Amino acid sequence: MKKIGIMTTGGDCSGLNTAIYGIVIGAAKRGWATYGILDGTDGLVGAEPNMIRITPDTLPPEQMPVAGSILRNGNVGVTNNFERAVQSGKLPQFTKQLKKNLAAAKLDALILIGGNGSISLAWNTRDIYSDLQLICIPKTIDMDIPLTDRTIGFDTAVSQLTGFCDDLMLTARSHHRWFVVQSMGRNSGALALTSGVACGATAILIPEIKFDIDKLVTHIKNAPTDYGIIMVSEGVRLRGHSGDAATMISRKLTAAGIANRTAFPEHIQRAGRTTPNDRILAISMANAALDAVENNETYVMTALQNGEITTVGLDTVVSSGHPERDPNITGLNISNAMVDDDNPLLIAADNMGIYIGETK
Ligand code: F6P
Repeated sequence: MKKIGIMTTGGDCSGLNTAIYGIVIGAAKRGWATYGILDGTDGLVGAEPNMIRITPDTLPPEQMPVAGSILRNGNVGVTNNFERAVQSGKLPQFTKQLKKNLAAAKLDALILIGGNGSISLAWNTRDIYSDLQLICIPKTIDMDIPLTDRTIGFDTAVSQLTGFCDDLMLTARSHHRWFVVQSMGRNSGALALTSGVACGATAILIPEIKFDIDKLVTHIKNAPTDYGIIMVSEGVRLRGHSGDAATMISRKLTAAGIANRTAFPEHIQRAGRTTPNDRILAISMANAALDAVENNETYVMTALQNGEITTVGLDTVVSSGHPERDPNITGLNISNAMVDDDNPLLIAADNMGIYIGETK
C-alpha cells in the first residue's frame, strides 16, 4: 500500500479542499493511504512530522467546496519558514530537518498544492524530496504559474471579485460616481482583466501594460455613463507616486473632477464556495497527480494545456514565463506567468472600448 502525503502551501484560495478530496478518494480507490501535513512546511520542521490520516470518511463530499484548506497553509510571517531560515543563515539546518521529517513520515509520494513561490522553492531545494516522488498541483488566484492554462482558485476568485463589482455598480449608478476597485494578483493582471471584463468595467489597469493617466481621465469623462468600475490590479505603479494603486488613481481622478471612491475586496477574492469549474479542475488535477505517482513520475507539476490535463517538469516550469529573482531568498528564481500583449481577452477588451492602457 502506498502512503501519499498532501500539503497545502503559500496563500490559500478556494478549491484546495476539492483537490485534497480528489486525492483522498482517488487514492482510496487505488488502495493507498493518504496523510495531510499540517500548516505547510511548518508541519515538517518540528521534532516530528505533524500530520493526520485523512480518509473518505473524514473528508466527506459536503466539505469539498468549502474555501480555505483543512490542512491549513502555515502562519505566514510568524513561523519558521524558508525565508526566515535564509535570513538567519540557517537554511542547511532547516532543509535537513525537512528531509529528516519526510523520511520519518515514510511517504512514497508528496503531493504539494502550491503557488509559483512554493513550486519554484521546491525545485530549488529538490534534494529534500529525493527519497520520494514529488508531484505539484498549481493553485493561485493570481494565475501566474507558467505552462498551465488555469490554476485552482482563479475561477472562484474571478467569481468573487465580479460579484463584488456587480454590487458596487448599483450604488455607483445611484450616486453618479466611479469605484476604483483594487484587485489582488501581485505582478499578474489576469484576475483584474478577467473580472474587469466580466463586470463591465470602463477601464482596466494591469501591471503588464503602461497607461497614461491623462488618457484615463479623458476616457472616463467621455464614457457613455457617469458611473462605473475602474479595475486596478494591485501591482500597478504610477511614476513618482507611492502607496496602493487604487488610492493613487483615485486621487488623480478626484483632482480631475471625477467623483469616485476606492474599494478593496482583499481576501474575499481568496474565499467563497468553490465554483464548479474550479472543482472540476481540482478533481482532474488530483487524478493526474495520482496517475503521476502510479507512473513513477517525480518533480512534475500537473497542468491544463489546450483542454487536456498533463504533467510538466518542474525544471521547465521554473525557467518558463518571466522568471524573476525572489526579493527575499537570494539565488532563488521564481517562475512567473503574466498577461502578454497578444492575450485574446486583452485584445477583446481593447476592441470593446475598455481603456486597458497604451498597448500600441
Ligand atoms: O498570491 C496570492 C495573494 O492573494 C496575492 O494576490 C496577494 O498579493 C497576496 O497573496 C496577499 O498575501 P497576504 O494574505 O499574505 O497579505
